[in-house]
Amino acid sequence: MNDNLHQLRCFGCGARISGAEARPDFRCSSCGDLFEVEYAGWNQRQGHDRPNPGALKWLWRERRCSTEPLDQSGVWRFRELLPILDNFGNAVTLREGNTPLYPLLRSAKALGIDQLFAKHQGMNPTGSFKDTGMTAALSVAKERGFEWVACASTGNTSAAMSAYAARAGLRCLVLIPEGKIAWGKLSQAMDYGAITCQLKTDFDGCVKLLTKIVRESPIYLLNSVNPYRLEGQKTPAFEIAEAFDWNVPDHLIVPGGNLANSAALGKGFRELHELGLVARLPKISVIQAQGANPLARAFAANDGQSIEPVEAHTRATAIRIGNPASWRKAARVIHETGGWCLDVSEAEIAIAKAELGAEGLGCEPASAVTLAGLKKLRAQGKVAGSETVVLILTGHTLKDADYTIDFHRGTLLSEKESAGHEIAIEALRRNAVAVDATPEAVLAAMQVDAR
Ligand code: F0G
Repeated sequence: MNDNLHQLRCFGCGARISGAEARPDFRCSSCGDLFEVEYAGWNQRQGHDRPNPGALKWLWRERRCSTEPLDQSGVWRFRELLPILDNFGNAVTLREGNTPLYPLLRSAKALGIDQLFAKHQGMNPTGSFKDTGMTAALSVAKERGFEWVACASTGNTSAAMSAYAARAGLRCLVLIPEGKIAWGKLSQAMDYGAITCQLKTDFDGCVKLLTKIVRESPIYLLNSVNPYRLEGQKTPAFEIAEAFDWNVPDHLIVPGGNLANSAALGKGFRELHELGLVARLPKISVIQAQGANPLARAFAANDGQSIEPVEAHTRATAIRIGNPASWRKAARVIHETGGWCLDVSEAEIAIAKAELGAEGLGCEPASAVTLAGLKKLRAQGKVAGSETVVLILTGHTLKDADYTIDFHRGTLLSEKESAGHEIAIEALRRNAVAVDATPEAVLAAMQVDAR
């Protein structure tokens, strides 16, 4: 079986190469920009050769009832739209994707929005959206015969890579910034058998070093500069469109770190549109943490035409990134869909996370920027109450339990950070209390909490 129909197109200069010709750092040898996977001929194909929208929609839904591992994956059940392997039999899957879409009734009411949903990508096998990209890119590594894979990470990519590498029997190397990733994520890399190096630098420093290493050794790079990652990460767009019966929601809100996820979701919707599976694109907005906001600054300064890297600081460690690799791709998605790019403060992130928790949907802090960003967009009149909005929650709450505990204990934010938000924070805090082991003491504690 030869399923492979793709080529790589440089996002900067448009140069086209085959997958096998890509450099180990996935940069264009002419202009240094990143590549995108392109499926030559999709649009030119005529008649019976052109994918039939009705047949595809039926097939993808049918596969949800299948017992085949590939069909049970929320990535590979859409494999007609990601023919990146020579043989789909090489796919390495943990049954990723097919994540839930939850209505957010309380937040919707508070914001005066009729239809508000959370697509919870934290419900993936390793607890983050990275699994959807990793199944795609790691399968390519396996098919191409690599023995080693590697990534620099703020934690979730390394957790996902280590798990998929273990399933495929590949060795893996993880570079992480020392002391700046959440324990839950570090523990996963250890558990799945990665060689984990904690470096005395930040995420951007880890990326630089790894780029040098892969240029000199036969190691397959699995950071999101690898265009195959984005092919997997575009599939939640298909799931969202399917969940709304192929009428896309009005607005999608995505956290922004290295900016590959927003780029991937935009690509997913663009391809659905080009193939006639949906009639329009949703607006896609990207939200960053104020201390790690190069794209938000760029949109404020020059409509996202150029970025200045920043030294990143935020307790939302997953998005503590000052020099995002995929910023051009993300900026294009924001422009072509009519979305926005904003930043939110540490207090706004913490409050939004606690509000999502109070709806029974925990998530990690980086994911909560979406709700915090929506509040701002709504206040600025950029989201109407009649619109259907989907927040992309990227990681599971247990990834960073320290953050949650610090918030509820009241030790997360400095006085300066919480200034002006004290009432909202107090209303949400639910610290664990030490009480005597008697019924009276426990009943009294219940009264205190009934504020
Ligand atoms: N949310 C979470 C939970 C993440 O782990 C990341 C990125 C993002 C959002 C941002 O996505 O980079 O595509 O804009 N985490 C990476 C990692 C960088 O190494 O795990 P992005």
